[in-house]
Amino acid sequence: MTSLSDAVTDAKLLVTCGPGGVGKTTTAAALGVAAARAGRKTVVVTVDPARRLADALGLGKEATTDEPHRVDGVTNESGRGELWALMLDAEQTFDRLVRDQSPSKKQADAVLNNPVYQAISGSLSGAQEYMAIERLHQLHTSGEWDLIIVDTPPSRHAIDLLEAPDRLVGFLGHPVYRALTVGQRAFARVTDAAASMFLWAVKRLAGPQIVEDTVNFFRSLANIEGGLRTRAKEVSALLRDEDTCFVVVSSPRAEAVGEAKHLLDALQAKNFPFGGLVVNLIHPLPEALTAEDAALLADLDDGPLAEQVAWHNELTTLATAERAELVSLEALAGDAPIVELPLLDHDIHDVPGLIDLSARLTSSDFV
Ligand SMILES: Nc1ncnc2c1ncn2[C@@H]1O[C@H](COP(=O)(O)OP(=O)(O)OP(=O)(O)O)[C@@H](O)[C@H]1O
Ligand SMILES: [Mg+2]
Repeated sequence: MTSLSDAVTDAKLLVTCGPGGVGKTTTAAALGVAAARAGRKTVVVTVDPARRLADALGLGKEATTDEPHRVDGVTNESGRGELWALMLDAEQTFDRLVRDQSPSKKQADAVLNNPVYQAISGSLSGAQEYMAIERLHQLHTSGEWDLIIVDTPPSRHAIDLLEAPDRLVGFLGHPVYRALTVGQRAFARVTDAAASMFLWAVKRLAGPQIVEDTVNFFRSLANIEGGLRTRAKEVSALLRDEDTCFVVVSSPRAEAVGEAKHLLDALQAKNFPFGGLVVNLIHPLPEALTAEDAALLADLDDGPLAEQVAWHNELTTLATAERAELVSLEALAGDAPIVELPLLDHDIHDVPGLIDLSARLTSSDFV
């Protein structure tokens, strides 16, 4: 079993992805700590970190923008590296994207000030996923960072992230969108059946003003459509760059393993560079009893020692089942490093905790 230290020292982009609640955000932060301690200027884009971890990363309530903040207390004696963190704000990222891609400020304002845009920019299907990668692209083009690490949102399906750029382009090709944006056609003359139905439904539900706003929104978006398409393609290419590395995080639970396998298959099928598998929250396998001890302990009467033995047996069964569950997932990882992290008896919510985890992630001594 090898480590992830190469990814941390060589990659320019790291993406942590995987099923919900398995430790993606924690792993992203710990990899960031490892990179900073290896002397690199690193930024971690986090999505919705647990409250105490956010505080530890300087992303508490007072952090009102989605700009990077320096994290203190991370670097070692060499003191060369830096860790910065930012919390993804999908709406601010979307606004920035609209501004960047608009030919003029007037056209950008037309989109940004539209009530429909304001209502949907944070909740467009796939927007969170897309914006995480879009923010990565923005940081990448700034040229300021040795390494950018992107944590991914708790999607229902981890695979959504990979499809987000294509989905954006797909949305731009949707018949309703096309019908609403072609030429300067007035709402009354929209002939496309799907678009008419759509507008009729919107009008019934929300009144005529919202229809006008919707039509205006799609029209103003048409001005930046070319830019959005180009950007989605660039983002797609960046995710497949040779300096990019996807780290899949999973737990040993059957449901998570199933999803992680699906994700690994998709990464390989779609040519995303896979850099390693982190299996988190594993129960350590207790030391096996010798046959002699087992025989001695088998006939115990009820009491504290019997409870200990029962607990030992239960833990052994659980830890063994987890390892059996993981065989097929670990086989899919091929030659890539696999790191197993134990389920600790405490949350990881401060810099020392992250430093400990970063050592486990990058040292091949820890298994
Ligand atoms: N090895 C571990 N041992 C104990 N607790 C852990 C371990 N790894 C992570 N945790 C804790 O589990 C919780 C969930 O971790 P985290 O937020 O990183 O998961 P996530 O995959 O990002 O979740 P989501 O899908 O909701 O974004 C956190 O409270 C974290 O401190
Ligand atoms: Mg998370």
